[in-house]
Amino acid sequence: MRIFIDSANIEEIREINSMGFLDGVTTNPSLVAKEKRNYRQVIQEICAIVNGPISAEVIGTDYESMVREAEELAKIHPNVVIKIPLTEDGLKAISTLRDMDISTNATLVFSANQALLAARAGASFVSPFIGRVDDIGNDGLFLLQDMLSIFDQYMIDTEVIAASIRHPMHVVEAAKMGSHIATIPYNIIKQMVKHPLTDAGIEKFLADWKQNSQK
Ligand code: E4P
Repeated sequence: MRIFIDSANIEEIREINSMGFLDGVTTNPSLVAKEKRNYRQVIQEICAIVNGPISAEVIGTDYESMVREAEELAKIHPNVVIKIPLTEDGLKAISTLRDMDISTNATLVFSANQALLAARAGASFVSPFIGRVDDIGNDGLFLLQDMLSIFDQYMIDTEVIAASIRHPMHVVEAAKMGSHIATIPYNIIKQMVKHPLTDAGIEKFLADWKQNSQK
């Protein structure tokens, strides 16, 4: 499973990228707004740091503005993938952008049917928001499993990005199911690195080493 970071914070992205496992980045309007910076500039800087798909979302909700914004965002860098919300206009935009050879990531996907339609319309990626499904008392991982088996059944080449990840076990479960990608917030990536037995092990090794070197 490929690992993306779900962040628009340059320091976070730089730090995680330096560990050598980062395959891409997803942003969304809320994440970019938190940075209080120019949108295009943020995307440009991310593209200069990470060599992989970088998702940038359109703000417009009608077909024409989605396509117009997508064309502008796609000019920033060849790695830019356009995030399009899953609506009727969104599906139309995904299909037009596919014909223009612009990669898309269908976002705000909450059902297997939405994922199937996005794939048939030509989305390069679909992003089921598993944490937000859990939030309303349903099972986000169940939704992810449904999508993966449908895509597998028909050998659909749209890649599934497990999104809205809320804890490290979401990542483990997504990987066990065969999700192509998980996009993970900075703090959860940090939790994935850490293990108390690793810390305790290092402490013990160092203490033993010091004792021995005093002899
Ligand atoms: C995915 O691409 C989205 O940016 C993100 O995962 C949404 O997560 P949230 O539900 O924590 O906002």
